[in-house]
Amino acid sequence: MQDVDAIVQEALALFAGIADADELERAKARYLGKSGVLAELNKGLGRLPPAERPVTGSRFNAAKDRIETALAEQRERIQARKLEARLAEEALDVTLPGRGLGVGGLHPVTRTMQRIETLFRSLGFEVAHGPEIETDYYNFTALNQPENHPARSMHDTFYLAGGKHLLRTHTSPIQIHYMETHRPPVKLIAPGRVYRVDSDATHSPMFHQVEGLWIDERVTFANLKGVLIDFLRHFFEREDLEVRFRPSFFPFTEPSAEIDMSFGDAWLEIGGAGMVHPNVLRNVNVDSERYQGFAFGLGPDRLTMLRYGVNDLRLFFENDLRFLKQFN
Ligand code: PHE
Repeated sequence: MQDVDAIVQEALALFAGIADADELERAKARYLGKSGVLAELNKGLGRLPPAERPVTGSRFNAAKDRIETALAEQRERIQARKLEARLAEEALDVTLPGRGLGVGGLHPVTRTMQRIETLFRSLGFEVAHGPEIETDYYNFTALNQPENHPARSMHDTFYLAGGKHLLRTHTSPIQIHYMETHRPPVKLIAPGRVYRVDSDATHSPMFHQVEGLWIDERVTFANLKGVLIDFLRHFFEREDLEVRFRPSFFPFTEPSAEIDMSFGDAWLEIGGAGMVHPNVLRNVNVDSERYQGFAFGLGPDRLTMLRYGVNDLRLFFENDLRFLKQFN
């Protein structure tokens, strides 16, 4: 058994050179496996004369221990190297400069809304809000649009399951909410989202409106024209902007008009308006002999398109950052 030490040296040298876990296991089989080098050696032990067996046997066991220890150490080394490599690969260089903060910006329609609020506040209007889920009463009936009124079909209403509630089709119901809780004089604008079953380049199923309402003892159609012309000229920063009031119909105003503004040599419709119908005032217990006034509904999405030269309304609601970034 003089070659035992040689076998140990060979095994230790072999293990030390192995960097791969599977390869190490194969090398282990070569020495410690069932038909490995040590197993062969063990068979030889049995053939020795009994007197030699204890000494040779203990040398054999010592050799086996050394090989097993070396194997275990090399396994650990391979594991440790693997972990080190992974840590190095995933290391964060905390000294690198940052990528910069993605600074947010306001949506173009939000900018328009803020601009509208600022301008109307400067004219003495309050800003009011109302619910987006409405009842039939607030969206239609209280606005002088009783059941089966043909004008209801113009609105392409989204009804909620159960049919009791609907998504408001305009901001006009805020007129009712406000006058139920405030006595005249009232002077307000009410911005918000409204919903209609409608979708193309100039219509989105969700869009925005800004309602206006001014009720007092002597508010006239001349005030309506003055306020809207003043607002639009300031909004677009153009003194020569022309505004046209085209006769129209709304159940909750009488007389009623569509508001058009000049744009190059075209007229563009940007809202509806009129003198509040006495039935609407009666529905909120306002004395329609004493009080009168006007209401209007503007389309701020439209105003945003005109101000920034955007030709497709849907772009506002797709949230494509390449589009939205241009406004900030
Ligand atoms: N609510 C109307 C609409 O959405 C607009 C409007 C508001 C007209 C106020 C007149 C007065 O079509």
